[in-house]
Amino acid sequence: MNARFGPGARLRGRITPPADKSISHRAAIIAAMASEPVRVTGYLDAADTRSTLDAVSRLGAIVERRDDGLVIRGCGMRNAQPPTAAIDVGNAGTLIRLLPGWLAFQRGHSFTLDGDESIRRRPMDRIAAPLAEMGATIEARDGRFAPLTIHGSALAGIEYELPVASAQVKSCLLLAGLATRATTILEPTPTRDHTERMLLGAGAPIRRERGGEGFRTIVGNADELEPDHIAVPADPSSAAFLIAAGVITRGSRLVLKGVGVNWTRTGFLRIVQRMGGVLLGELEPYGSFAATEPVSDLDVSAGPIEATTVAADEVPLAIDELPLVALLGCFAEGETIVRGAGELRFKESDRIATVVDGLRGLGADIEALEDGFAVRGTGGLRGGRIDAQGDHRLALLGAVAGLASAQGVEVIGMEAADVSYPGFARDIASLAG
Ligand code: S3P
Repeated sequence: MNARFGPGARLRGRITPPADKSISHRAAIIAAMASEPVRVTGYLDAADTRSTLDAVSRLGAIVERRDDGLVIRGCGMRNAQPPTAAIDVGNAGTLIRLLPGWLAFQRGHSFTLDGDESIRRRPMDRIAAPLAEMGATIEARDGRFAPLTIHGSALAGIEYELPVASAQVKSCLLLAGLATRATTILEPTPTRDHTERMLLGAGAPIRRERGGEGFRTIVGNADELEPDHIAVPADPSSAAFLIAAGVITRGSRLVLKGVGVNWTRTGFLRIVQRMGGVLLGELEPYGSFAATEPVSDLDVSAGPIEATTVAADEVPLAIDELPLVALLGCFAEGETIVRGAGELRFKESDRIATVVDGLRGLGADIEALEDGFAVRGTGGLRGGRIDAQGDHRLALLGAVAGLASAQGVEVIGMEAADVSYPGFARDIASLAG
C-alpha cells in the first residue's frame, strides 16, 4: 500500500499517541508468567503486540478482551505449555528476544520460535550465548539466527556485562534470572528499564543501582509474580513522529496526551530541546527508578532548530528515534552528527543505510558513517518517494518528511507502519488544518 503525505498543512490539536509497544510486550509476557489474572489497560493494538498475545496464548495463558482492556490469566512462572508447532513472532524483535528468558527455565519442555524474513536476519546469539552461560540449551540456525529452539533446564545465576547496549538482551536475562539465586546485569550505558519496573511492581526481588560508569541490576529467585493492574502509557517513540512533525511543519502546535516519560525513553525529547525545538512537558529526572511509569502531556510548536551532535552515550536512550534526528538535521542550521549508533544496522532494516538512502532520495544532504550519519541542514526537503523496506520506522519517517517537504512524499509500503503505529495517516489527517 502506498500513501502520500503533505506538503504543507500545519498540524494543530490534541492527540493521544498509540500505546507503548515495549511496555505492551512486557505486560503480556509478565502477566502470562503470573498465576493470578492481571488487568492490562491501554495495550497496543498493533501487529507486533498481537503476536505477543498470540504467543502467550499458545503457551497456555488465556487472553480475555474486554471493553475496558485485557485480562490475562497466566500459566504461572514454571508452567508454560509447549505448543505442538513453532511460535510465530511475526516481525516482533522484542518478543523473540524476551520470551526465551522465561522459556529457558521451563524444565523438560522445548519451544521453537520463528518469525518473518526480517526477524530471521537479526542476531539472536546476543541472547543465546548468555542464556547458555546460565545453563540453558538453545539451538539457533547457524548458531545465531531464528528459528530458535529453547530446551528448558535448571538455570544458575551469572554476572553479565552487556557487550552491546540492549534492553532486549537485559530483559531476557532478567526474566531468566528469576529462576536463579542471583543474576547481575551490568550496563555500561543505561537502556530502557520497563522490565525492571514491571518486575518490581510484580513483587520480584530486583534492584537497580548506579555501578561504575553505568547501571547494575540484580534480580533473585521468585516463586510467583503478582503484577498489579498494568496501565500502558502512550509510546514516546510513536509520539516522536508527531513531535518531529510538529517542530518542522510550519505553523504547527500539538499537544500529545499521556505520553510515557520514563527517563530511559526520553533521549530524543532532550535532543529536540537542545536543537532549540519548543517542547514542553514534565520529563522524569535522569536516574529515577520506581515500580511505575511516569506520564506527561507534551506541548510542541514549530520553530527554527539548530544542528547538534549526538554522543555515543545518548544513543541507547534515543535508539529508535535516531532516524528522526536525521530528519530534523535536514531542517536545522548547521551539521548534525550521530555517532556510536552501529546498533542501528541490526534493526528491522539496516537503519543507517535505509535512512541515509531514503532521505537522500528526498533531497537531503546526508552521508552514512560506519556507526551513524552526518546531515547538513539545507532548511528543508524537496520530497519524492521513499520505500519503507518493510521497516515501520522508515514508513513513518517518510510520512513525517512528506508533511514538511516542498513537494510531498509518497511512501511505498506504508502498511509496515502497522506494527507500531496503526492509523498514522488517519491521525495526521485529523490534525492537519
Ligand atoms: C526494545 C529495545 C530496543 C529497541 C526496540 C525495543 C525493547 O532494542 O530498539 O525497538 O522493547 O526492549 P535493543 O534492545 O536491540 O536495543
